[in-house]
Amino acid sequence: MLDVNKIRADFPILSQKVNGKALVYFDNGATSQKPQVVIDAISKYYQEINANIHRGVHTLSQLATDAYEISRGKLQNHINAKFPHEVLFTSGTTHGINLVANGFASILKPGDEILVSAMEHHSNIVPWQMLCEKTGAILRVIPMNLDGELIMSEYDKLLSEKTKIVTVNHISNALGTVNPIKYMIDKAHEAGAAILIDGAQAVPHLKPDVQELNCDFYVFSGHKICGPTGIGILYGKEAWLNKLPPYQGGGEMIKEVTFEKTTYAELPHKFEAGTPNIAGGIVLGTAVDYMNEVGFDNIQQQELELLEYGTKRLLEIEGLKIFGTAAAKTSVISFNIEGIHPYDIGTIIDKLGIAVRTGHHCAQPIMDFFKIPGTIRASFAFYNTTEEIDVMVEAIKKAKVMLS
Ligand code: ALA
Repeated sequence: MLDVNKIRADFPILSQKVNGKALVYFDNGATSQKPQVVIDAISKYYQEINANIHRGVHTLSQLATDAYEISRGKLQNHINAKFPHEVLFTSGTTHGINLVANGFASILKPGDEILVSAMEHHSNIVPWQMLCEKTGAILRVIPMNLDGELIMSEYDKLLSEKTKIVTVNHISNALGTVNPIKYMIDKAHEAGAAILIDGAQAVPHLKPDVQELNCDFYVFSGHKICGPTGIGILYGKEAWLNKLPPYQGGGEMIKEVTFEKTTYAELPHKFEAGTPNIAGGIVLGTAVDYMNEVGFDNIQQQELELLEYGTKRLLEIEGLKIFGTAAAKTSVISFNIEGIHPYDIGTIIDKLGIAVRTGHHCAQPIMDFFKIPGTIRASFAFYNTTEEIDVMVEAIKKAKVMLS
């Protein structure tokens, strides 16, 4: 059982006041807060070993390179990848998806099909639309039902020999739905298609096992798991990463360069052109260590309690409707109050120290599906408490009176 007060003491920002009120931070879907150990690791890197990696013979360069590669190993263990070179550092989920989509430009032919789901973040829609424009491939959409669950019988029907890649989130950022990705991965493979899993919203809540899942690609961002912004991971199966062309050309990613011809470096360097976010890569390892020390069983237990308690308390408010009522859900509650714009509620409760996200959550097709302009989204992390939910519910009640 998690000692939440002890955990909260690890996060300096949580004891801050915002607008004169104790901060209630419920925007964890957008980014997580950072524990002191992560904040310290950033300054330690710059104070003690800052140097460019994979390049210098000097001591600092070697220390920085070792720290970066040790961190890659930690991430490999964390997601249970078979090899460290299957774990690429990126700037975040968006970068990872674009890298793969760009690579598929050399594989797809006109008439080939890409399947995306109806509940994707824009970052898992737009790169594939751009790819379709480039190649003449066709984007097909796996529909969802009114609970915000993907309809598997429709998915089965959409899959065919034309499907070359399926791309779906593990957990929806706007609805909190946990998608049946193991089923989807197996089905994609039966149809001969590759599959990419957008794990951005999943990794804060669970530890993916990429070998057990058997996915071809799994992408996520570091800043949602207590790490810094500007760093993320693209896991790719070795065979796929060898098959895809490099995304960016530059230093680091070459074996040999002449003006006539360039040969590319081995994995993972082939995809890591230029000086990377060295501090970010190293500190992401610290963040993952921290999350594992807290323990994902503990995290899930705490978040389930918050989801159940939050759902119950919010539904006490008259006129409140929750969007995303899937049977399998994580600690994200998207809701609206009849007759009131989500932005207005968000603005008023911010004055009371409560941080939620309002709007379309970079998932406009979901809002179109429900015929709403947006929602108020409270996304809970393991360091949140039921008392904070009480504070939010009282603040929403106040805002509702003011706006009615
Ligand atoms: N994708 C992030 C969110 O859902 C930013 O808020």
